[in-house]
Amino acid sequence: MSLSEQSPPFLRLGVNIDHVATIRNARGGRHPDPLKAATMAIEAGADGITAHLREDRRHISDEDIEKLRSHLPSPLNLEMAATVEMLDIAVRHKPHACCLVPEKREELTTEGGLDVVAGHNHLAPFVTNLVEAGIRVSMFVDPDFAQADASHSIGADIVEIHTGTYCEAVIAGDGHKIAHELGRIRNMATYANGLGLEVHAGHGLTFDSVAAIAELPEIVELNIGHFLVGEAIFGGLDSSIRRMRALMDKARAQSGEQKSA
Ligand code: PXP
Repeated sequence: MSLSEQSPPFLRLGVNIDHVATIRNARGGRHPDPLKAATMAIEAGADGITAHLREDRRHISDEDIEKLRSHLPSPLNLEMAATVEMLDIAVRHKPHACCLVPEKREELTTEGGLDVVAGHNHLAPFVTNLVEAGIRVSMFVDPDFAQADASHSIGADIVEIHTGTYCEAVIAGDGHKIAHELGRIRNMATYANGLGLEVHAGHGLTFDSVAAIAELPEIVELNIGHFLVGEAIFGGLDSSIRRMRALMDKARAQSGEQKSA
């Protein structure tokens, strides 16, 4: 039976807690504590926690990763650049998964996906070492078939599709661009799934943009951070995560009903 004939799989939510650390670091000290936020996120319905240990340590710190690994039983998805320093940290802490991301010091956030085609020779030993350490490996890529092919041939388990351009179109209310970007993401999800890759998605997702992505049955995990932490200022972290979870679940259930109708 093909995926399109089955009821769609459960859609996991990974909550990215980087910006809890951003607020903490604005003053130094320990408050607000990313581990406490991670624990609350799991209680509110997250299936795992995502954290990006950047080379400049602008938000998540080495100590945060240690605490998350020793005190949180839920899966940790460690986002990292392909550097020897980060590989050593990953192999030491053995998170459930590592998502390889491009990283530039001057950027505000992860701008665009990793170029696995051009970076193949540099990236290959990192993927091999992570896989050998028993860590699932994800490549954060733009919705582009060549990137899916390269991720597959390099030995990654997962592609995470960068949803940033689609989310910007939603904020701008640009219907034409929304349709175009959604089409790219949909085609990429189908294509990558056909290669045998697990498909995740994330970046920039909000209450307004999540449903159309959650409807895509090949996608089994969304990683969402900045919006949830920002929204927590107004209604609390628990409430922002529960609402996101509910929107994801509703969209996923509706896509299943459309298939069986
Ligand atoms: N996925 C990846 C690979 C990311 O780098 C990020 C941002 O750190 C996210 C998901 C989450 O994006 P946002 O914080 O915009 O929800």
